[in-house]
Amino acid sequence: MPIVRTKQILDRAFAARYGVAAFNVFNDLTMEATLAAAEELKAPVIVQTSVKHVKMTGIDAMYAIWLAYATRVSVPVALHLDHCPEREVISSCLAKGWNSVLFDASKLSVEENKRQCIEVVAEARRYGADVEGEIEGFKRTEEMTGDEAEQVQSLDAVVDFVRSTGVDVFAPAIGNAHGTYKTAPHLDSQRVSDIVAATGIPVALHGGTGMSPEQFSDLIARGCAKVNISTAVKIAYMKSGFDYMTAHPGEYDPPALLSAQRAAVIETAKYHIRLFGSEGKAWA
Ligand code: 13P
Repeated sequence: MPIVRTKQILDRAFAARYGVAAFNVFNDLTMEATLAAAEELKAPVIVQTSVKHVKMTGIDAMYAIWLAYATRVSVPVALHLDHCPEREVISSCLAKGWNSVLFDASKLSVEENKRQCIEVVAEARRYGADVEGEIEGFKRTEEMTGDEAEQVQSLDAVVDFVRSTGVDVFAPAIGNAHGTYKTAPHLDSQRVSDIVAATGIPVALHGGTGMSPEQFSDLIARGCAKVNISTAVKIAYMKSGFDYMTAHPGEYDPPALLSAQRAAVIETAKYHIRLFGSEGKAWA
């Protein structure tokens, strides 16, 4: 295999109602470690890059790193561009070989979002790539006011967006946010069921870090086939680095530090893969 279309990974998960982890990575170590976790558990996985990360590393270098790591694992893997409002970055990533993109025009009107998303989907298809769409946008957890689940578009607006654009996966706001929740989030899980019933496409669950195992299994059973985990990867990486340096004062041995961080990221990734039910779901 091992690099496949994102849609191929998600459609299988959606049909069998398990979740595939989509891990946000931010350097070569986290990219390699999340792939290693998937390989160990024989799970399909999606690796996501942010616009900031792509610009920081450079698209050619990042894709070369991806190819080097992804082609040595045997499980199905896909590279996704997370929240991207910039059309040029989307075009460059699609041309380079990213398997999917999230066109984030949530700051534009739904009509303009839709108009541009139709173009993005047409562009992606030319490269055999897939598209995630959103029309509501996500807050950071620290910006939450408690009424997020009510500040959403109507079901009709979602259905119209999905049908008109042809996106492969849709990311709705259901009271979720990016970051670390201060208190357990109140999630509108019924909205996931309604969207899945009305559109027939898988849902992407954003803001995964900090949701409970019960919330994950409920939402995955309702059709959240793509489950985004970013902050938990960052915490594992930063905390293990801090703990290592604290436990080894005066030792300046980067490989030892990086190996502790790699082990922590692998553990975090394995925890989520198991939780989402995708362990052993790799296919030949
Ligand atoms: P968390 O940082 O809350 O895990 O959210 C990840 C995400 O949704 C990335 O788009």
